[in-house]
Amino acid sequence: MARREVPADRPDPAPDRVARRDVVDIGQAVAELRTLRDCLRYACSRFEAAGLSYGQGTDSAWDEAVWLGLWSLHLPPDPLEPFLDARLTLAERQGLLGLIERRCTERLPAAYLTGEAWLRGLRFRCDRRAIIPRSLIAEALQESLDDWLGPDAPDAVLDLCTGGGSLAIAAALRFPQARVDAADLSAQALTLASENIADYALGDRVSLHRGDLFEPLTSRRYALILCNPPYVNDGSMRSLPPEFLAEPRGALAGGDDGMDLVRRILTDAPAHLREQGLLLLEIGHEAAHFEAAFPHLEFAYLPVSAGDRQLVLLSREQLSTDALAKPTPRSRSKARSSDATGRADGPARVSARKPRR
Ligand SMILES: C[S@@+](CC[C@H](N)C(=O)[O-])C[C@H]1O[C@@H](n2cnc3c(N)ncnc32)[C@H](O)[C@@H]1O
Repeated sequence: MARREVPADRPDPAPDRVARRDVVDIGQAVAELRTLRDCLRYACSRFEAAGLSYGQGTDSAWDEAVWLGLWSLHLPPDPLEPFLDARLTLAERQGLLGLIERRCTERLPAAYLTGEAWLRGLRFRCDRRAIIPRSLIAEALQESLDDWLGPDAPDAVLDLCTGGGSLAIAAALRFPQARVDAADLSAQALTLASENIADYALGDRVSLHRGDLFEPLTSRRYALILCNPPYVNDGSMRSLPPEFLAEPRGALAGGDDGMDLVRRILTDAPAHLREQGLLLLEIGHEAAHFEAAFPHLEFAYLPVSAGDRQLVLLSREQLSTDALAKPTPRSRSKARSSDATGRADGPARVSARKPRR
């Protein structure tokens, strides 16, 4: 299936998209449409006319339509082609077109309508108790992070700000010898995480902790800390489309420059990293704000398919310097603003060398 994972916690750049036509006759559509291809075409037209936003698992009307279509018909995600010209029964058309209509009128993300989300081939239960899984860290875990790890796979991993538990589960599957702690402030998110952990039968290796950042973890230390914190800056928060407003605000809002929690995480992380430990932090489209907040910090960006400056990798050594000292007003003003689309171009600050191990 052509579903693309849109990773960052970012709204789709569609502020100027307006509903151009609002005349919908579902009965007529149910009567006239025949095949899955017909219904997907209809969904695309309907989504675009309704001015939907994407970016919570898919990034286009087509991918969104395919997701809902295949889910509604209980078809596997791949392959799509053999089913496109298959005719649907009346009941199937009614079900799918009803779902398409809910997507348009309720403006709920597809994952909240279907109750499931997919991330790098893993299925997760998904509802409004937690943000929809789409972290770029999942891609790094499967691909680029290996280059930065030492000869031994991490045996103690922390997923800080775990939400519904997707990264903790991905880490446990990626590192079968590891014990994984997963922490979050939200009791609701942790309940969802426990359901996901049970689905993967990982209860013996993944433990949940509730509290403010590192507070519930006392003095534990980790070889690897993964963290996709709330990092959307206030300006972007104010222009969130309805689909993103459906997600828990506490999972997105990162304060004035998006860095409120990141500052605390970077300050407290060294006490929870082993000597050779690494922190992999998602900052999405807030690279400009990150660089302005920590102008003297040496770090590496870990490139992923969505961009080169959205994941930050830090060693304990790099975090233990005085580079976390407050930036001067001058350095802060150098931040290039990143709008809701996250486009904040400029020279990437990429550390050429890997953290020493
Ligand atoms: C962007 S979501 C990430 C969820 C999940 N890791 C993912 O990638 O899908 C951020 C998470 O941080 C949690 N959070 C917010 N403030 C927190 C805090 N002070 N301490 C711990 N977790 C916090 C939210 O409840 C939310 O689940």
